[in-house]
Amino acid sequence: MKTLREYIKEADEKGIAIGHFNISNLEALHGIYNAAKKLNVPVIIGLSEGEEEFVGREEAVALVKALRARDNFPIFLNADHHYGFESVKAALDAGYDAAIIDAVKLPLEENIILTKKCVDYARELGKKENRDILIEAELGFIGTSSKILDAIPEGVSEATMTKPEDAKHFVEATGVDLLAPSVGNVHGMVKGGNPRLHPEVVKAIREATGIPLVLHGGSGSMNEDFVACIAEGIDIVHINTEIRVAYRDAVKKFLNENPNEVAPYKFLKSGVEAVEAVVEARLKLFNGIK
Ligand code: 13P
Repeated sequence: MKTLREYIKEADEKGIAIGHFNISNLEALHGIYNAAKKLNVPVIIGLSEGEEEFVGREEAVALVKALRARDNFPIFLNADHHYGFESVKAALDAGYDAAIIDAVKLPLEENIILTKKCVDYARELGKKENRDILIEAELGFIGTSSKILDAIPEGVSEATMTKPEDAKHFVEATGVDLLAPSVGNVHGMVKGGNPRLHPEVVKAIREATGIPLVLHGGSGSMNEDFVACIAEGIDIVHINTEIRVAYRDAVKKFLNENPNEVAPYKFLKSGVEAVEAVVEARLKLFNGIK
C-alpha cells in the first residue's frame, strides 16, 4: 500500500483532496470507514487531544491499524491539534501516521522552535522504525472548537489570515510536511453561516511554500468554496462539527421515537448511518466523484 505522503501527492496531482474526519467513538469510525470503503477513496481519521483522551491513544491506533490490515485499505490516523511536544511524541510513539503540532497561539518564532522539535522527532522515529511520519503545523488563528457557534470566533478575521511570506519563512525554518493556513476558515459552524473561503490566499500560500496545504474547519463551508480551494492547493480537508451534529441528532431522534430501546447497538446504529451519509457526501465532493 502507498504511504499517506504518496496518497497526498496523488491527490495533489489529480486536483482532489483527501477527507479527514474526527472521531470520539467507534460508531463514528464505522460511519466514516463505511463511506470511504463504499467510494474506494483514502481517508484520514483524526483525534484531537480531548477525543484521544476519551477513545484511548493505543485503542485508536489498534482500531485503525486493524481495519487497514484486514482490508488492505488506505485508512490513516492523525493526532489532530496536539498542543505540546509530549502529546505529539506520545501519539507518534503509539503508532499514529501523522500529527499536528498546534502552536498557533505562540509568537511565530516560538511556534517555529516547537514545530521544528516535532519534525526532528518524527524524522528520528521514522528512521528508527522505518515509518514515513508526517508533521503538520498551523499558521493563522481559526478558532478552536468543533461546535455550533453564535458568531465568528474572536480573533478570526480577514486581517488575520496567514501571510504567504510568513508561511514561506515558517516552512523553510521547520521543514514541516503539511501546513494548515487561515484562509477564511473557522472551526465550528456559525449559526448565521460560515465566512467565505479565500482560494486566492490558498494559491499565494501554496506558491510561496510549495508544500501540500490542509483546510481545517471545513464544516459549514460552501461546496463551491471547497472546490476552488482544492483546485488551488488544498490536499486534505478536515470535517468534524457536521458529523458530531449528525450523530447527536440521529441518536436523539431514534431515542425519542423508541423510548424503550435499551440496546446500544440498536440505538447507536442510527448515529453510524447519519455519520456515513455526511461523510459520503463530503468525500464525493472532495474526490470529484459525481
Ligand atoms: P470543523 O469542526 O469546523 O469541521 O473543523 C474540524 C477540524 O478542522 C478538525 O481539525
